[in-house]
Amino acid sequence: MSGPDAHEERPFDARVVVLHVLARVRGGERLAPTLRSELARIAERHDRAYVTDVAYGVLRWEIALDAALRPRLDAPERLPPRVRDVLLAGTYERLVRATPDHAAVHAWVDVVKRGPEREQGLAGLVNAVLRRVELGPVNGDEALALPGWLADEFRALLGAEHATSAARGMLESEPLWLSVLGREATALLEADGARVLAGPVPGSIAVRAPIPLPTLAAYRQGLVQAQNPASLAVVHACAVRRDERVLDLCGGNAIKAAGLAARGARVTSVELDAAISEAGRRNLERLGLQVEHVVADLRHTPDLPPAPIVLLDAPCSGTGTLRGHPEIKARVTPAAIESLARLQARLLDTAAALTEVGGKLVYAVCALTTAEGPHQIDAFLRRHPDFVAETPTLPLETHPAGAGRVILPTEGLDGFFVASLRRSA
Ligand SMILES: C[S@@+](CC[C@H](N)C(=O)[O-])C[C@H]1O[C@@H](n2cnc3c(N)ncnc32)[C@H](O)[C@@H]1O
Repeated sequence: MSGPDAHEERPFDARVVVLHVLARVRGGERLAPTLRSELARIAERHDRAYVTDVAYGVLRWEIALDAALRPRLDAPERLPPRVRDVLLAGTYERLVRATPDHAAVHAWVDVVKRGPEREQGLAGLVNAVLRRVELGPVNGDEALALPGWLADEFRALLGAEHATSAARGMLESEPLWLSVLGREATALLEADGARVLAGPVPGSIAVRAPIPLPTLAAYRQGLVQAQNPASLAVVHACAVRRDERVLDLCGGNAIKAAGLAARGARVTSVELDAAISEAGRRNLERLGLQVEHVVADLRHTPDLPPAPIVLLDAPCSGTGTLRGHPEIKARVTPAAIESLARLQARLLDTAAALTEVGGKLVYAVCALTTAEGPHQIDAFLRRHPDFVAETPTLPLETHPAGAGRVILPTEGLDGFFVASLRRSA
């Protein structure tokens, strides 16, 4: 292994980078950008792949790994956080990644021996625990992959069987999903040595590339953007026509705005956060697409003409994206979901006011809770008798959830709730 090390005079050790990434995430950072910044300093592709897999793996499997470790420890809560992460990572590597026992145990014990002096004395404990730990059965028990209350939420929204597949789906890795916005993309990706497979939604591809996304020619030439197929499916649900006016509310990084603009729509993207709106503007500039940007707080109706198509991609708990953002599991709370649901209701009222008579309001959240999904739409329809729910036209398999549909987070998809609301008067 080669590259930089946190301890400068020592040889590079990818395991030390894993611990550094986990410490930053424990400190409140998000996993994906933290990992990106650390990976940018690692020379070897196999080291980058290892750090990515173990950092994601620990956070995805943490509840199951923790349950396996607790009976082997006298006082788990007194362990230094770094040693706890060593135990989680070693257990993940040995039992989930199936690295041969002696290699995984030996390498992690070595990290403790070379770590801070006050932790070196725990090397014997780490060795004994990692050799004996066994993983309990995860199959069928989503409580091991999710906090208990969230597993209950999944069951309430999806029913027992789909809740189990959803929870299990969150433990898997996912490919690099790209949306294709320009011809020649696949040829350019393949010329860069990437393997390209068709995705489950038209315009979506799964890519295995030997070099990071920003260095791929297809990316630099603005022909692709990173986007989960479920997110692209929401663009399909808008069913925009060429030259049609679309309001993209809560436009964020303009990922969906790009899909709408690429289909020829005249898009106005409205976002609260000026820095995020600017990132969206840069994304569209790279893609060579035109979108009007407005910075506004949509808890109040902005001075914009109503449109025939309105997309509200509302801020949400992100509980449909736990595979890609596993750190959310330890952070999201029932109280946060209640408060997000109140915000979504206000944003929906604004979106309703901005929908033309006869027009369509598409509501989407990458969340799998009833409060942000079917209950939200039931309450909306009670407040707005001038709207009726239609079945959203999504180009993949979905499941009914009240007046909307759910995309299950399996096979690398993000989980989404989508509703389509037609203004009749
Ligand atoms: C789910 S993200 C949108 C993602 C975006 N549609 C895309 O596809 O790239 C939700 C966005 O809503 C924005 N937001 C939160 N509260 C808002 C408010 N009161 N008014 C407008 N935007 C808001 C957040 O800053 C965030 O960017």
